[in-house]
This record gives sequence, C-alpha cells and structure tokens, in this order.
Amino acid sequence: MLNNYKSGYSLSQCFYKDESIYDLEVKSIFHKHWLFAGHTSQIPNIGDYFLFEISEESIIIVRNKKNKIKAHVNVCRHRGSNICSEKYGNKKLLNCPYHAWSYDLDGLLITARDMPSDFKYKNNNLHSVNVELIGGFIFINLAKKPLSLYNFKHDLNKTLDLFGLDDLKLVMHKSYPIPANWKLAVENYNECYHCNPSHKEFSQIHMMGTDNKVFKKRKNDFHEQNKGKLKFAQFNCYYDYAQTGQEGYQYDRNPLKPGILSGTVKGSPAAPLLGNLTEYDNGASELMLGPLMFFLLYDDYIVGYRFTPLSLNNCVCDIFWFVRDDAVENIDYEINNLIWLWDTTTLADKEIISNNQKGVNSSFYSPGRLSLMEDFQKSFLDWYINTLSSYTGD
Ligand code: FES
Ligand SMILES: [Fe+2]
Repeated sequence: MLNNYKSGYSLSQCFYKDESIYDLEVKSIFHKHWLFAGHTSQIPNIGDYFLFEISEESIIIVRNKKNKIKAHVNVCRHRGSNICSEKYGNKKLLNCPYHAWSYDLDGLLITARDMPSDFKYKNNNLHSVNVELIGGFIFINLAKKPLSLYNFKHDLNKTLDLFGLDDLKLVMHKSYPIPANWKLAVENYNECYHCNPSHKEFSQIHMMGTDNKVFKKRKNDFHEQNKGKLKFAQFNCYYDYAQTGQEGYQYDRNPLKPGILSGTVKGSPAAPLLGNLTEYDNGASELMLGPLMFFLLYDDYIVGYRFTPLSLNNCVCDIFWFVRDDAVENIDYEINNLIWLWDTTTLADKEIISNNQKGVNSSFYSPGRLSLMEDFQKSFLDWYINTLSSYTGD
C-alpha cells in the first residue's frame, strides 16, 4: 500500500480506514513527535493539573511543589487504573481511586498498603514523559529519546521573543470534535486551495486564499519591503526537510489583505500589541512545530491549533487564543471579536472535513490529483508515507 503511493495525489482509501495503519501511525508519529499539551496559565497554582489525551494515552500535566511543570502517564503502577478522571483539577497527591496507592506531584509512589516485603517503591513511580516549555507553551514527547528541539530554538528564539511568548495568557480554549480521520484534518489545515470557496471570513482578512500568482507576488513584495527584519525570517525545516534527529518546524510571515491589521471582524486591532512589537505591519506569521501543531501570530494575538487523533475515525481540533498577559477583557480586548475568525473558520472546516471523510469512505473513491495550491499538503503526505515506510519499531 505504501509502495502504491503517488506523490502529488491524495492517499488511498486504506490509509483512512485501516486499523492496523492507525496503530502504526500512533507508534511512528504520535509517540515520536512533540505534542502541544497546553499553556502554563491553565495551571497557575501548585497542584493544578489538566489531562492531555491522545488516542489511548492520557497524560497528567501538573505543576509540582517547586513550581515546575511535569507530565506523568495517567496509569497507576499497581494494576493500571487511570488515576485522574476529571479533566482539570487541583491535587496535593495523585491518589489512585482503585486501591488507594498514592503518588506525589513528581510521580513518586509514596503509599501502597500491604505490599510484600520485597516490594520496591522506587520501581513503581509513575511513568513520566518529556516536557519542554517555550514561553508558556507546554510541549510533551512520549518517546524515550525525543527528537531534539535545539535547531528550532536556535533559529527562532529571537523572532519568537518579539511576540512576547513568556508574557501571554490563554483567554479562550475551544475543542472541535471532528468525525474524521486525523489526516483529513491536518491535510485541510495544510492547504488553502479551499479557503476561497469555503471561508469568506478568512478570505476577507488573509491574502493566502486568493489566486496563487497574486498571492505570491504580494508576498514577495511584502518580504522585499521588510527585508532583514527579524519578524520576516523564514525557516522551512518542516516534514521531510527536518534535519535527522531534530523536530521539524517552519516559520514564515504572510501578508494580510490591504489595510487589515489583525484577524478581527473589521480587520482592526484585537488587543494590545504583543511583546516588543511597536507597530502593526499588515501581516501574520505562521509557525509550525512537529507535524500536528500550528500557531498563527498576529501582531496582537496568537492562535494555537492542535490536531489530536482519538481513534481511526475521530479526531479533535483544539484552538487556543492568547493575548498579552496584562490585557484586560472588555477594555483591551473583546473576546467575541478575538475568536470570531478562527471559531467561524474552524466550524466551517469541521463540516468540510466530515464531508471529506464520507466521500473517502465510498467504494468509488480513488486518489485525486493535487493542485498547485496544495504543495504543503503534498509535503505532508510525502513525509507521512516516508515516516510509515521507514518505521523500524523503535
Ligand atoms: S490500580 Fe491503582 S491502586 Fe490499584
Ligand atoms: Fe479551512
């Protein structure tokens, strides 16, 4: 099936319907790459936690007594019960509800009743997973030896500093469950061929959905006018362009429609300028880290997208909206104005993606030819096939 893939075409039906392929994806993609778990402002106090769930895995993201963010697998080391069942909360200890083993916030086992004399507490701590913070964004990785984020940080630290990533607050998080295979959601995010026909709101704000030649010309001019500015750096190290052993990433700045300052109903500012920015420049930056996380950086707010598979036929798109942490609601920003563009656009995408899955399930479906506006999607599919083909089991 992998050998039959033709670059420049959509995938064969089996990639959207076969459980064994899904199992391979979990091991070769979701347990290998960095995942966007959430933001430190979701757990401001010691003992605050939330669950991040992906496919069969549930991870407890918690703030420990030393104010550090930790991530533990939500599986008791006794007989495997989930420990936390509420999605958010605050705990002094992580107590298993089944037979009352308890763990501290660092995942160390501290009580287990009536165990044999040779039982070793130290061998029964919770499994913990890798955590990295970039600003307040919490990334986790389920691999024993995770891909390095060194290149990403090295290339982008200064540029991202401009946007004040350390000083953001999460002002809205919405989940959009989509009855479709996760790849259809990511493929849809990765192309703007559909933007003009499907997203009139997006198309009134962003240049990207317009005719390819017009867009490219405007983008070239935009970069020419802003040559040398940190905000206009470009890094294309995504998918198959990632260096071996490094997590993939991309950063690029794109023009908005003439006169548009931010992603709001009228294109007017949404909130106070982020970080060290001093002016609006009629653009927005695309940032991608790993295969499933995307951020859109306007001058005054940031939107984070996460695509998470739940099962073969179901995924969820989570959207996070951030403004600078000293902005005051209803004075500095108005929440409905802030979320309007990406809430509207994502509800439309949910519909498109669900319809795509229905059609892909038909016995008449066969891989279709991609357009010139789907070259980023093509990169994703090429990478996807390479990733599955080269997976060796570790
Ligand atoms: S499964 Fe957790 S204490 Fe038994
Ligand atoms: Fe879309």
